[in-house]
Amino acid sequence: MKRITAILTLSANLLLIVDSFYLPGLAPVNYCKREDESDVCKADVKLYVNRLNTEESVIPYEYNHFDFCTPKDSSKSPVENLGQVVFGERIRPSPYNIEFMKNVTCELVCKKSYSGSRAEDNVKLSTLRKGISLNYQHHWIVDNMPVTTCYETDDGSDNHQYCTTGFQMGCFVRNGRQTCLRPTGNQNAYYIYNHVDLRITYHSGAKEDWGSQFRENGGRIISVKVIPRSIDYKNDPCSGSNNGPLKFPSYHLKEGETFDIAYTYSVTFIQDNTVKWSSRWDYILESMPHTNIQWFSILNSLVIVLFLSGMVAMILLRTLHKDIARYNQIDNGEDAQEEFGWKLVHGDVFRPPRKGMLLSVLLGSGVQVFCMTLVTLAFACLGFLSPANRGALMTCAMVLYVLLGSPAGYVSARIYKSFGGEKWKSNVLLTSMLAPGIVFGLFFVMNLVLWGNDSSAAVPFSTLVGLLALWLLVSVPLTFVGAFFGFRKRALEHPVRTNQIPRLIPEQTIHTQPIPGIVMGGVLPFGCIFIQLFFILNSIWSSQMYYMFGFLFLVFIILVITCAETTILLCYFHLCAEDYHWWWRSYLTSGFTAVYLFLYCCHYFFTKLQIEDAASGFLYFGYTLIMVFLFNLLTGTIGFFACFWFIRKIYSVVKVD
Ligand SMILES: *[C@@H]1O[C@H](CO)[C@@H](O)[C@H](O)[C@H]1NC(C)=O
Repeated sequence: MKRITAILTLSANLLLIVDSFYLPGLAPVNYCKREDESDVCKADVKLYVNRLNTEESVIPYEYNHFDFCTPKDSSKSPVENLGQVVFGERIRPSPYNIEFMKNVTCELVCKKSYSGSRAEDNVKLSTLRKGISLNYQHHWIVDNMPVTTCYETDDGSDNHQYCTTGFQMGCFVRNGRQTCLRPTGNQNAYYIYNHVDLRITYHSGAKEDWGSQFRENGGRIISVKVIPRSIDYKNDPCSGSNNGPLKFPSYHLKEGETFDIAYTYSVTFIQDNTVKWSSRWDYILESMPHTNIQWFSILNSLVIVLFLSGMVAMILLRTLHKDIARYNQIDNGEDAQEEFGWKLVHGDVFRPPRKGMLLSVLLGSGVQVFCMTLVTLAFACLGFLSPANRGALMTCAMVLYVLLGSPAGYVSARIYKSFGGEKWKSNVLLTSMLAPGIVFGLFFVMNLVLWGNDSSAAVPFSTLVGLLALWLLVSVPLTFVGAFFGFRKRALEHPVRTNQIPRLIPEQTIHTQPIPGIVMGGVLPFGCIFIQLFFILNSIWSSQMYYMFGFLFLVFIILVITCAETTILLCYFHLCAEDYHWWWRSYLTSGFTAVYLFLYCCHYFFTKLQIEDAASGFLYFGYTLIMVFLFNLLTGTIGFFACFWFIRKIYSVVKVD
């Protein structure tokens, strides 16, 4: 019970920290009217466009992949970090010019004309049509905030707004399915959203916010909401008269046929001093679905899992205590020969396993992944990697992974040496090459598919070379340094000596056989992560924001505890059944959680995502495989070291002659 309260207090503290250090390093930007523009405030409100994505495909596309308006002047794209580049974010300047506190009723951005006699026009149109039919979403950014669309949800009590980041590029009515927000008629048709109503709310400047530079006509941007519209302007955009929504041709234009799209926008500035700048993200995070349910269910599962593992630990400690007391009693007495249970295999438990090389390499890589996850989550908890810090989470994880080569080399070398391994060169090479090589290889193959699809998620060649350089020039040397120190140390000493001749393992019953044990081992750890998993997968594949890192950190700790305890428990049963092949089995027992993770990802793919094209499916499973592999390294390593510690402990307590 003490532990539960301690952990709950810890998590509460973490959540408090998140609150008080909201988005450090991201200073607010002050805006003001054109005539007041100075060093302290800007009049231009820059609108950036990011890549478009959809739930119906895994492949994102850059804004310029579609034939939208482009900015006239070649203003530069903002600098992106490694995480953004690797994960396909492409932030570009837009042709929309917004000036602070200047309402615009209707302004033409550009007009695109397509003619059936030009083949390339039909290609452009079909790209747009494909985007509409797959429900691709725009992701715009103003003042480092995502532009959102809000819907009224009348759930009885109060008029609640539900806001999502991004908005549709168009909508369609087709064979009974329709994606349009407002009813547009029953005919089968495509519509393109060519007009956007931007509503920008701002917190007007006050003395305490602005220091001595008090300004009346200034403020900070709180939110930017968009209402996309489809408008068929006859010939004269923004003239006030129109023909209803703009129907998009659902076929190839024939010779002589033409089709025009006029892109327009309007801007309204609304003052709202009730929302503080520092809490401007809240409306996005709050309207994420089921936030309350999530709180409750996570807490619930945490309590259950902690309770369970507490029981397991207690039972284990008690039986063990009895065992040890009995062993040591028998030793003092007459019939010292009559040994039983796990003590019988004392001459074999530390017999080096087969394929010790591979095991030590996996453990080294596992330690690397474990440290990376731990530090990344800690940073995330402190608010350094909040959603406003785009791509920071992945950048942080990748940089940490590269820098943590040394622990990997060290652990791998020490374990390998304790197995009596001689081929230290192969060990170091494999540690630095195997796991990163598998991840990089998978990533490269997927990149080929993305290149083939002309997607924005395809990493530019220069970045790929940069990643290779990070791996080969930073991570590999660091691994060598770690391994050098690992091999220089004396080999780990085991508490009991290993006999010359291996003992015969008796026939095992069904539940002490290796495979059932391993399959069972993953259930409990998986049980405590699967609720979070749903939200994490949503944030990866449905572009929902994930921000509850306090919880995630907690779940991670619980995962470590359950992995360790189940492995120790099963390990104990196996030793009692006189089966001493525990090295690989302890790794695989908790590592099997990754198999459940894979099954869950498959389930998610078929039930939550509406993906039909083969390339998307391929990419989904490619990324899933990388995730599952890393997760296997992580959980397997936790299980192994828990078991290793446990076995060293119990055999150092019993007296062996
Ligand atoms: C812009 O329009 C809004 C809503 O109509 C209005 O409240 C606001 O005063 C207008 N702002 C300016 C600068 O005209």
